[in-house]
Amino acid sequence: MADQKTERPVISTHAEAVAVARDPVTYSSRVSRFLQVPNGMDGAEHAAMRRLLAPFLSPERMTRLQPLLEEVAAGLLGPITDGTELDAVDDLGSRYAVRGQSAWLGWSPDLEDELIEWMAANHEATRSGEPARTREVAEWFDRIIVSIVEARREPDAVHDLTWELVHIRGEDGQTLPDPVLVSILRNWTGGDLGSLALCVGVVAHWLVVRPAMQDEWDGLDDAQLDAAIDEVLRIDDPFTSNRRVTTKDVHVAGRDAPAGTQVVINWAEANRDPVVFGDPDRYDPAGNAGKNLVYGAGPHACPGRPLATLELRVLARALLSRFRIGAGTDRGSRAKSPMGGWESLPIVLHARG
Ligand code: HEM
Repeated sequence: MADQKTERPVISTHAEAVAVARDPVTYSSRVSRFLQVPNGMDGAEHAAMRRLLAPFLSPERMTRLQPLLEEVAAGLLGPITDGTELDAVDDLGSRYAVRGQSAWLGWSPDLEDELIEWMAANHEATRSGEPARTREVAEWFDRIIVSIVEARREPDAVHDLTWELVHIRGEDGQTLPDPVLVSILRNWTGGDLGSLALCVGVVAHWLVVRPAMQDEWDGLDDAQLDAAIDEVLRIDDPFTSNRRVTTKDVHVAGRDAPAGTQVVINWAEANRDPVVFGDPDRYDPAGNAGKNLVYGAGPHACPGRPLATLELRVLARALLSRFRIGAGTDRGSRAKSPMGGWESLPIVLHARG
């Protein structure tokens, strides 16, 4: 199969997606001419950067973050009264993603509005496919990040997670140069903000059309709830694809591809491969967990998974403890390729009796 616009081979079976993601020697992640840390790195350089950054997403760090996220969720839902209609993606997902991420990184709440604006512009630029717009949005984000980084170099700066990142030393004993810091923070932010808002839309829609499951989810323990959310994201995967570039001549996605060909791993299609999942719409959190590709596979599998999982669980619990989620007056609209899930999903929150 090939992408109709770009003619790139598109990998849409589960077996081939896993094989390609697990073979970084043949399928390199150096797909962009821009610095992408760690996304665009390969081999030992990539592994060293993953090791260096792993402590920022450790289980211990997530345990410390949980009460802050619970405060964020309570603060967001606090003012909402019975019968309020809102957009699950914009009003809930985006706001929660920005506030949750700021709690993790130690960023000021004053940045919230600018980050929300940036997310919308980034989303539009991705959809437009216009390099000039993408560059403009990237430069805007760089300016935000550089000022955040510079503030962490002041002698009286608070020692938050971003301060730790700015002062961390790599294997060469040096702190990370500004372009590397900006790239890391861009990938964390890009990974978190946009995808998380889309995930909130997908999960909200699932629950709106299955009211009985809202009661069922209330009774799940943390591990079961995480598996349930992962399974909903498998069925309607909002993080659709990633690219690789071949380092030698290969036969992939049913065709010959010479060295240097860009290929697309379509996670959303692979996550619905009937050969592996039978009926792809069948909800089976425990049975499908080991085959779920929402967070990728291989050495580039999402390092932000523990954060995303925690954020989604905390929001789901906060929502379901106070409300039942009903359909809004409008049906909403699906996101357009290359994004998945819902672009907009009006919902009504009914206070629990
Ligand atoms: C919200 C739901 C999220 C989804 C569905 C998701 C999905 C993914 C997937 C499929 C990959 C694999 C990319 C590849 O193979 O090329 C990935 C990589 C990555 N994700 Fe996430 N992600 C999410 C949240 C996050 C969060 C919260 C962060 C950071 C805090 C994050 C940071 C990253 C980074 C840095 C990579 C690149 C890793 C590497 O190349 O080694 N993601 N993500």
